[in-house]
Amino acid sequence: MADLSVNIGELQMKNPVMTASGTFGYGEEFADFIDITRIGGIIVKGTTLHSREGNPYPRMAETPAGMLNAVGLQNKGANYFAEQIYPRIKDIQTNMIVNVSGSAIEDYVKTAEIMNELDKIPAIELNISCPNVKQGGMAFGVTTEGVAEVVNAVRSAYKKTLIVKLSPNVTNIAEMARAAEANGADSISLINTLLGMAIDAERRKPILSTVTGGLSGAAVKPIALRMVWQVANAVKIPVIGLGGIMNWKDAVEFLLAGASAIQIGTANFIDPAVTIKVVDGINDYLDRQGCKSVSEIIGALEL
Ligand SMILES: Cc1cc2nc3c(=O)[nH]c(=O)nc-3n(C[C@H](O)[C@H](O)[C@H](O)COP(=O)(O)O)c2cc1C
Repeated sequence: MADLSVNIGELQMKNPVMTASGTFGYGEEFADFIDITRIGGIIVKGTTLHSREGNPYPRMAETPAGMLNAVGLQNKGANYFAEQIYPRIKDIQTNMIVNVSGSAIEDYVKTAEIMNELDKIPAIELNISCPNVKQGGMAFGVTTEGVAEVVNAVRSAYKKTLIVKLSPNVTNIAEMARAAEANGADSISLINTLLGMAIDAERRKPILSTVTGGLSGAAVKPIALRMVWQVANAVKIPVIGLGGIMNWKDAVEFLLAGASAIQIGTANFIDPAVTIKVVDGINDYLDRQGCKSVSEIIGALEL
């Protein structure tokens, strides 16, 4: 049995396997199927300052080897989370991390301040793929200025581990990562979904109510792996890799590319026990390779 523990900023994890935001609810929904305390960290649904209804249906579409979604950050807001959901999940014996989303800097900051007061939330993950309503709806995460501004503002308000989740819909991902690092991020996670589209030819209509949506699942893995490798080589802070991880082998590839931890998203919809299988699979791989600790394979890709 190898030592699977990893640290991300001040966050101590029993293993490098986490669940991706929006794909694992608040964790409790999965507790009847698996021992969720065996997971290194659970990133809960995207939380915004005010409650959001999300986008009209249809907001999901299956694609070959993946899915498109346009859920639109449906949630009941940060205060509801603090008052109603936090008391239910705070004693789950793993790291419960909140994914913080927003459409204005002030909203991100206020949400981060609310999360800062919750003792048993050791970290937040900042979702900067959201449209900036004050700047014509372009996502914060697609310009270095946007990344710098939102990370800097949240860093001043949030005292615990700050993970910044990057959008892959950019030309130079390493620049975005460096902007996040320079403005106080403790860790970078990537990738969020890739912008995609699906059409119903018979009806001559888009399938999603929003026309375009976010692509995730196995289809995005090679892009995610490439971006994780580029970012791990561009920053000194730990990187959390995700995008199309379906099994332990995919997870090991991300660790070799330089990720200190990984997240599993869409695969949870196919197999609710995938996270546990990935923890066991990484452990078996390390044993077979004669490694005593997972740290021995992080960034160990040989070129
Ligand atoms: C239904 C659905 C909802 C999602 N909601 C969020 C969210 O609220 N915040 C966020 O940062 N990412 C969200 N994501 C993106 C995932 O966390 C993840 O970055 C992406 O799906 C890529 O990983 P995967 O291929 O393993 O699913 C969502 C993805 C899906 C499929």
